[in-house]
Amino acid sequence: MDFTGTLNDQMRGFYRSKYVCNGESRNMAVTQFEAADARRCFPCWDEPAFKAKFKLTLEVPSDLIALSNMPVVKETVSGPIKTVYYEESPLMSTYLVAIVVGLFDYIESSTSEGTKVRVYTQVGKTNQGTFALDVGVKSLDLYKDYFATPYPLPKLDMIAIPDFAAGAMENYGLVTYRETALLYDELQSSASNKQQVAITVAHELAHQWFGNLVTMEWWTHLWLNEGFASWVSYLAVDSLFPEWNNWTQFLDETTSGLRLDALAESHPIEVEINHASEIDAIFDSISYDKGASVIRMLQSYLGAERFQKALASYIKKYAYSNAKTEDLWAVLEEESGEPVKDLMTTWTKQQGYPVIYAKLNGQYLELEQAQFLSDGSSGTGMWIVPITSCCGSYDAQKKFLLKEKTDKMHIKEFTASQSSDGDKNIWIKLNIDQTGFYRVKYDDELAAGLVNAIKAKKLSLMDKIGIVEDSYALSVARKQTLTSLLRLLNAYHDESDYTVLSHVTSVCLSISKISVDATPDLNNDIKKLLINLLLPAAIKLGWDRKDGESHLDVMLRSLLLIGLVRLGHNETINEGVRRFHIFFEDRKTSLLPPDTRKAAYLAVMRTVSMSNRSGYDALLKIYRETAEPQEKSRVLGSLSSSPDKDIVLEALNFMFTDEVRNQDSYYILGGISLEGRDVAWTWLKTNWDHVLKTWNSSSLISDFINSIVSPFTSEEKAAEVSEFFACRMKPSFQRALKQSLERVRISARWIESIRSEPSLGEAVQELLRGAA
Ligand code: BES
Ligand code: ZN
Repeated sequence: MDFTGTLNDQMRGFYRSKYVCNGESRNMAVTQFEAADARRCFPCWDEPAFKAKFKLTLEVPSDLIALSNMPVVKETVSGPIKTVYYEESPLMSTYLVAIVVGLFDYIESSTSEGTKVRVYTQVGKTNQGTFALDVGVKSLDLYKDYFATPYPLPKLDMIAIPDFAAGAMENYGLVTYRETALLYDELQSSASNKQQVAITVAHELAHQWFGNLVTMEWWTHLWLNEGFASWVSYLAVDSLFPEWNNWTQFLDETTSGLRLDALAESHPIEVEINHASEIDAIFDSISYDKGASVIRMLQSYLGAERFQKALASYIKKYAYSNAKTEDLWAVLEEESGEPVKDLMTTWTKQQGYPVIYAKLNGQYLELEQAQFLSDGSSGTGMWIVPITSCCGSYDAQKKFLLKEKTDKMHIKEFTASQSSDGDKNIWIKLNIDQTGFYRVKYDDELAAGLVNAIKAKKLSLMDKIGIVEDSYALSVARKQTLTSLLRLLNAYHDESDYTVLSHVTSVCLSISKISVDATPDLNNDIKKLLINLLLPAAIKLGWDRKDGESHLDVMLRSLLLIGLVRLGHNETINEGVRRFHIFFEDRKTSLLPPDTRKAAYLAVMRTVSMSNRSGYDALLKIYRETAEPQEKSRVLGSLSSSPDKDIVLEALNFMFTDEVRNQDSYYILGGISLEGRDVAWTWLKTNWDHVLKTWNSSSLISDFINSIVSPFTSEEKAAEVSEFFACRMKPSFQRALKQSLERVRISARWIESIRSEPSLGEAVQELLRGAA
């Protein structure tokens, strides 16, 4: 069959990426076929269930390296062109076929089974690949044992691509990455860059089994790929870096899943897909984060060992073939004897999740489930909920399935003994370690018990995170007052753990933002209160790295400094600016290593305005001078965060220049200051045609909508935005737009309810006095 394709510029199908080698600008040819773009490169039955063996031959310029899924069997050179023949692949889906042609260097290592693993980087930069290579080799060994199945191909290559729409892509035997997700530089990367590389590598390599060897039958079951790879990447990274406390960090995923799935515009994990254009939009927090979280919930219900055994049989049974969600449940059910299908179907075929209302009635703990929605309404959903609970101590646990709307249990059912009734030290925590994908609303008595337990340091990190996240969500949904949320936050003032404080900080920043619109008079006092909460831990850590400090403390320093800058803490901003100036003169200074740089950049941007713009220009200079993509991303993520609207506008326009790759637009979008939201919206309307033309074909278009629309907080603005898009709707961003509009309306209602809280002002003053 004759077929002519186009080497396009759209980061999908067969496309061109640009890079500089030895001072010369060059092109590379790359493929990105998932979900439905192999057809842009060659004619094929381009659906995951049509597996075939691929035997590729490429004709390429003789001086370039040409990689594909399989090793090269033969190469013949004829002048400027060489022909490269590749081994035949095993049965595989079209979306996993890959080709990369360009100039690279590589480093190599091998697994315990002798599989050759390589990392390809820009010429002269292989030292930045060693970390990923090490994680890659170790992950392959680990998965081979975990899935009780060897890595199926003779080699594995991993390669960094300068223009890349997603974070990484699991092509069979040739995994492609965004540069920031693969390359790690001891001097230029932050601790959080390092974690991201480890998680991404572990995720893509998990796909070599879950996804590539056993493939979803149809895109409806995409979550089997993405949810599983996400979940199992935490397992791998936890085993490689136990000191990162990775399972506690996993609650970031659960949190994103819970937040998105509380929208009426969410969707079930298993979602009907009728057209290729609908697939991109489901690579979202539901498939990834809710998917991974319900897997964790099931694993914790069945037990780790039974779960692993069943997964290994599933992989064996469906190797080189396809499976649907029910096939996995069947294997797990057979292995465990538990009603896995009935239980899990309520979580994967139904959108949303429940909030469990917990009430103490005499000697009984009464439970009731209702669908949780951030707009405050109750949906009609019903779930089979694996309830776990403990009372007074983690030794006194009880587990059962809540199958009906309500249930109750006698307090005596907690196995271990506990102190006598009426003891104010008694506490009951449901959803131990947040393994369940649900929220809990406690009655006042139980909630007070938990606050005491937090203060008395009785609770696990995960439970402390769960309590603050649930409380925040319940407050947004107007099931609980902001006043009570602020009182709860106050119980965290001694906290010094990164994992907990990262959730506390994110809640603080949301409160600070909403209070700008909800209670402008109180905004400064609320900010002061939140600053007081984060300050003790930040002061303890300071700006400078200490010898022998833990990875998580390094992460914490960066988190807190950024949080304090965003909350407008003057001392932190001044110190950030001071260090920035020193760094600007001497890029090698030890006063501003990569971990604290983002905080300093944001501090500088808080002080920048059109009439005092030297900080902005200095950041641009750093951007232009650095060759490091992670450093570039730190600068881009700061540029639009100035309170000056004209600077925000300038940063947004900078995105359209050829100094910023299209793949990097979301850094600038993600940084837009609250003060800049109106100018950003006007900018988006003015430039919509250009934005659409440039970004519509990649899922990056959704970021424009999410980042620019979601910060609004009024019905009028929601109406204005929906009117603008009424005649401009496209399937690529329809879901993102509906979700963003829903968020705007949720904020509008939350604001109304905050304004009607009678004792908020008093409580803020009281809490401020308490901290003084
Ligand atoms: N299969 C995806 C890449 C992808 C995403 C292809 C969207 C087509 C559309 C890949 O396995 C993936 O999930 N990558 C993640 C990184 C991961 C660490 C969660 C990504 O790109 O963000
Ligand atoms: Zn994935």
